[in-house]
Amino acid sequence: MKISLTLNGEVVTADVEPRQSLVDFLRASGLTGTHSGCEHGVCGACSVRVGGHVVRGCLMLAVQTDGQTVETIEGLTQSAAIADLQAAFHRRNALQCGFCTAGMLLTAHELLALDPLPSRDDIRDYLSGNYCRCTGYQAIIDAIADVAAERSGR
Ligand code: FES
Ligand code: FES
Repeated sequence: MKISLTLNGEVVTADVEPRQSLVDFLRASGLTGTHSGCEHGVCGACSVRVGGHVVRGCLMLAVQTDGQTVETIEGLTQSAAIADLQAAFHRRNALQCGFCTAGMLLTAHELLALDPLPSRDDIRDYLSGNYCRCTGYQAIIDAIADVAAERSGR
């Protein structure tokens, strides 16, 4: 099926199999920052933004993005929208293998847009759908709390 979408700010047309998942489509398009982990909606490694909302790329078909706006970690990095979160993850050692990191960053970005100064419990709760196999959760929460405080001038 032919689809046309805005992918990281550029209009893209593609021929996709009706059953191809969004994460597989993105990775086959060279956007390998989005990872495929559990492939059934549990781990959050495949998180991307569709229409401004973070979704699971493994639970969405590529054909469903026809006419939509899709943003991946590459697009958010290029626009510098999450530069402070990325710097804080680096500074706080909030990534080890990095497999979960794109999903963590997208989810953290969404949380801070909804709630600029979340408590540590709020951060934990919002990230509960993103798994880190390296179990660096404390450092991830530290990094997000740092950015929330910096952005709020605290
Ligand atoms: Fe999609 Fe795990 S790969 S939630
Ligand atoms: Fe390895 Fe999270 S840093 S899975």
